[in-house]
Amino acid sequence: MKLREVKIEDANFLFKTKQDKEFQKYLPDMLIPKTLKEEEKEIKDAIRLSKKEQWFYFILEEKNERIGYVDIYKINKKHKRCSVGYGIAKKHCNKGYATKALKLALTKIIELKLHTIEATTNPKNIVSQRVLLNNGFTKIGLMKDYYYSKGKYIDRILYWKVI
Ligand SMILES: CC(C)(COP(=O)(O)OP(=O)(O)OC[C@H]1O[C@@H](n2cnc3c(N)ncnc32)[C@H](O)[C@@H]1OP(=O)(O)O)[C@@H](O)C(=O)NCCC(=O)NCCS
Repeated sequence: MKLREVKIEDANFLFKTKQDKEFQKYLPDMLIPKTLKEEEKEIKDAIRLSKKEQWFYFILEEKNERIGYVDIYKINKKHKRCSVGYGIAKKHCNKGYATKALKLALTKIIELKLHTIEATTNPKNIVSQRVLLNNGFTKIGLMKDYYYSKGKYIDRILYWKVI
């Protein structure tokens, strides 16, 4: 199992993965690309920003099969801080892949000499919170009304890790 940097050829896989209703259940809709074109734009942005070490978007692969993704974003070199996000294609869920993908991302974060990592989840996303706890993140607390989407506020839980 390995992480590799995203390529434009991954657009179909990422778009299809994110279109699944189960996948979207706990995600704010502004994080879901509406069209394949939007997904391709996101990939192009990620490739461009990876050159400046501002955003790393990785595909998790096993035996050349795409399993999911993990990204390192909001990279703040001054304070040595970043955020992480991840997603696993539905047919590969519940096999420990997200836990391993985040572990591999932590290795990259250490290589980048960053010191602290933030992750936020929907409070009902128990599985995602297990992935964070399994990787040594600490629950900080509820961020009430963090997002405003489609006329309503959405809470998030903040998790934190010091390397
Ligand atoms: C959240 C997500 C990444 C998890 O991926 P995954 O590969 O299935 O996760 P893992 O198999 O590594 O770990 C799942 C953990 O949740 C636990 N779990 C699974 N179902 C559960 C349930 N119903 N209740 C409680 N725990 C549960 C598993 O036992 C495992 O924990 P453990 O290793 O301590 O036993 C995946 O469901 C996903 O992509 N969801 C949509 C996108 C998303 O929510 N991303 C995160 C945004 S913050």
